[in-house]
Amino acid sequence: MATSVFLLTCFLLVLGLNVVNGQPLVPALYLFGDSIVDVGNNNYLETLIKANFPPYGRDFINHEATGRFCNGKLATDFTGENLGFTDYPKPYLSNKAKTTKNMLLGANFASAGSGYYEATAKIYTTLSLSKQLALYKDYQNRLVVILGKVNASATINGSIHFLSDGSSDFVQNYYINPLLYKKYTPDQFSDILIQSYVNFVKVMFSPRTLLLSDCISATAIPGPNLNLLVLDIYQPLLDLVTKPIDNGFFEARKACCGSGLIETSFLCNAKSPGTCANASEYVFWDGFHPTEAANKVLSNDLLVSGLNLI
Ligand SMILES: *[C@@H]1O[C@H](CO)[C@@H](O)[C@H](O)[C@H]1NC(C)=O
Ligand SMILES: *[C@@H]1O[C@H](CO)[C@@H](O)[C@H](O)[C@H]1NC(C)=O
Ligand SMILES: *[C@@H]1O[C@H](CO)[C@@H](O)[C@H](O)[C@H]1NC(C)=O
Repeated sequence: MATSVFLLTCFLLVLGLNVVNGQPLVPALYLFGDSIVDVGNNNYLETLIKANFPPYGRDFINHEATGRFCNGKLATDFTGENLGFTDYPKPYLSNKAKTTKNMLLGANFASAGSGYYEATAKIYTTLSLSKQLALYKDYQNRLVVILGKVNASATINGSIHFLSDGSSDFVQNYYINPLLYKKYTPDQFSDILIQSYVNFVKVMFSPRTLLLSDCISATAIPGPNLNLLVLDIYQPLLDLVTKPIDNGFFEARKACCGSGLIETSFLCNAKSPGTCANASEYVFWDGFHPTEAANKVLSNDLLVSGLNLI
């Protein structure tokens, strides 16, 4: 069921190694991808793929339905906390993302229902990866206005970039789209997604290279200061699903929201009958997305594998 969603989801961490005493371990965080990391960009889009109404967010700060596809915090919210941040990067489409204070935290460009495959976002009128990159470039230009080129470069240079994508390409596109599944095997489709991922990494760093061009020599490439980590979220989630009790969960087959079988996005709403009382007992919050409790376990696993890889 829902676990296959994560098969192709990978976390990408691009990590600069600047450590500043007493401050978060990195200057800022940048997030890209789909509903696993979206914190509300879709609230500003004409799309059905939203989560800015109850019961989403019922265990979040102030019980606010921010647009996170979860009852509470996302795995990347915990990662930010683990790195020493006391607030989360804002959805870049919101006005509050553009205040100086919030710009310095980084920004979140992720959009539920988007994927590596550009056409996936088109179906749901969400932000494709290329749109997310265009917004990232806009962010960089604004940061230069705030900090000046040298300090803006240093901020971006030393920060973490997360990308989590690929589940929507399969669940909300490939598996239900004969134009795709009749044309490509799952492996062939995966290859297309991986190509898109490679392009993303290249394009993401070309604006950065431009931005840095004043302070690094023309021959320098972003390679030496770039750490690329591909983290596996599938295995830790599979462990939760196959051994829920070991991890303090009671239910791994059914989701908390509604009947727990399919409800996601607008189908998971305040009127969905049967929504569980305590989401902490469940691995899945809705038909596709882990609960806050599961995200906490996943973020710990990500941190451990991230640190091991470094
Ligand atoms: C750039 O960073 C330096 C060193 O941290 C600081 O002294 C300076 O004020 C910063 N410049 C701006 C425009 O923020
Ligand atoms: C970028 O970060 C690397 C590693 O921390 C550092 O060596 C380099 O000087 C930085 N470049 C700029 C322009 O800040
Ligand atoms: C919810 O479930 C968790 C995990 O079993 C438990 O620790 C917690 O006490 C429960 N909360 C309530 C209000 O029952």
